[in-house]
Amino acid sequence: MIKLEDLKNIGRPVKVLFVCLGNICRSPAADGIMQSIVNSHGASARWVIDSAGTGNYHIGELPDNRMRIHARRRGYELTHRCRQVRESDFDDFDLIIPMDASNERNLHRIAPTIEAEEKIIPMARFIDATSRYDHVPDPYYEGSEGFELVLDLLENGCNRLYNLIENL
Ligand code: 4NP
Repeated sequence: MIKLEDLKNIGRPVKVLFVCLGNICRSPAADGIMQSIVNSHGASARWVIDSAGTGNYHIGELPDNRMRIHARRRGYELTHRCRQVRESDFDDFDLIIPMDASNERNLHRIAPTIEAEEKIIPMARFIDATSRYDHVPDPYYEGSEGFELVLDLLENGCNRLYNLIENL
């Protein structure tokens, strides 16, 4: 696994790709939340943030309406257009962050080299252990609580990721 220590003070932007299955619920929400945290600290020159899906069902679409509505209530405007993960993402990003074990397995399949695989770090690594979640659950077939849970977990994990890399 990549040493997160190595990403501190690298003297160029840290590049982070959030990954889920559809790229219309969890990963675009993580993308929007992380960008909002970075912007609120005036740190946008130090971060490059994007998201992608392992699946190809929704390419070009905006995030799921339910996710957009729940996110908007918390002040996040989600405008990402869905795209699929590609091999070159492993060259273009420092950290590739899957939401669950299935996304993680798929990323390991796509990764072109062992060094590339080392960039894969599950989102749950950054989420406070007291949440008792070892993954960010797919909300697609869930109700409102599923979307709110995703946003709670992602706000926690993204803030902790930000603080870790920025030495806060
Ligand atoms: P996501 O949720 O992986 O969080 O974007 C899903 C969105 C769409 C589908 C599955 C999960 N789908 O099967 O279309």
